[in-house]
Amino acid sequence: MKPRNPNLQTMHLETRGMKLPDRLEYFRLSMEEMRHTYKRTVLTAADREVIVEDPFTGLHRYMLMFASNNYLGLANHPHVTKRVKDAMNEFGNGIGGPPLLNGYIRLIEELEERLAAFKGHEAAIIFSSGFMANLGLISALAEAGDTVLYDELSHASFHDGLKLSKARAIPFAHNDIKQLEELAERQSLETEGTMYVCMEGVYSMNGDIAPLNEITEICKATEAVLMIDDAHGTGVLGEGGRGTAFHLNCEKAIDINMGTFSKVFATCGGFVTASIALIEYLRYYARPYMFSASVPPPVAATVLGGLEVMENEPWLRTQLLANVEYAAKKLKPFGFYSMPQAGIITLALPPNMDIRKGAYLFHEKGIFLNPVEYPAVPANRQRFRISMMATHTKEDIDRLATAVEEVWNDSQAYSF
Ligand SMILES: Cc1ncc(COP(=O)(O)O)c(C=O)c1O
Repeated sequence: MKPRNPNLQTMHLETRGMKLPDRLEYFRLSMEEMRHTYKRTVLTAADREVIVEDPFTGLHRYMLMFASNNYLGLANHPHVTKRVKDAMNEFGNGIGGPPLLNGYIRLIEELEERLAAFKGHEAAIIFSSGFMANLGLISALAEAGDTVLYDELSHASFHDGLKLSKARAIPFAHNDIKQLEELAERQSLETEGTMYVCMEGVYSMNGDIAPLNEITEICKATEAVLMIDDAHGTGVLGEGGRGTAFHLNCEKAIDINMGTFSKVFATCGGFVTASIALIEYLRYYARPYMFSASVPPPVAATVLGGLEVMENEPWLRTQLLANVEYAAKKLKPFGFYSMPQAGIITLALPPNMDIRKGAYLFHEKGIFLNPVEYPAVPANRQRFRISMMATHTKEDIDRLATAVEEVWNDSQAYSF
């Protein structure tokens, strides 16, 4: 069977019941047919400009990077690099065990203390990724008899965490405060255990932010525990980059904050901050923490170094926000999917544009950005996603805007 106009969803459905070798062959043919821009090999650091091995020509070429969440340019900041080298000299490359056994080195403890203070909470716990933090957090806390109300656009890791939890989980429409209020009022009467309200600070696929002030009021009135995933707000919003809740002056009303090291810190790992009691509970009930190795010393040093840079070089965040403002002005005529409110800018697809064709055209023009295509989002809500960095120049943003204009024009005529 030859795949026609495949995507990951149809591929999955069409290969159900096949023998594995047949399914893998179907998958291989589909990926060939898709001519996608995923998994491009990057040969240099995640800077504003990178060298890429072009999957279509095999040649090495320079591209402007608008797909990295290295918001402040910490990925190759000299202070962070030095911090990492020093940590490796002192603590070595890895730990070789979970934190509860042999993996709780002083550097990790120090980082947890720093993260807790940074987020205004008593304590913090570090996971091996943001994905694992969400998975562990919600599956450990939300028990049978509990209710979880969550924004429908929550990250895949949160959805997967819910699948592992025995709580009743009810989504509300994205940022729909009225619906959340009604749900919370009703569910608070029907919930025997704890009610949790969960959302992101900055939405990764939209770039908009949650109306946390109203949400905190709803949680107070209904005695719900408020949990935010601030993966994209951390380092970007609020004084000192302390996140979306600080930006909106409601940090004291946040019960649980989740974050990741994979965005502004440009490494990997995730964390949760909350009360001492809650964090200590997670250490023994969050399975991805208990049964998985601790992040290695270079990662802990990367984040510690990153926090120091954020404190000592506040102009990086100012520059990032200025770049977002400038890019938003230049890109406005092309139509946002959502108004940009942090480091992410999303562009709605022009009518009839084939998103893969558009992504290929951007690639050809030397612009590295991310298509967000079905089934990651519904077919009528596909978009392009741009991640801004403090290190982008005005000229980079001008080039981006020119490329968008050309792609918008070309895509109507171009035959893929
Ligand atoms: C909102 C949000 N939460 C969680 C994650 C998972 O983080 P990590 O990359 O550290 O696994 C991401 C990353 O894409 C994210 O955007």
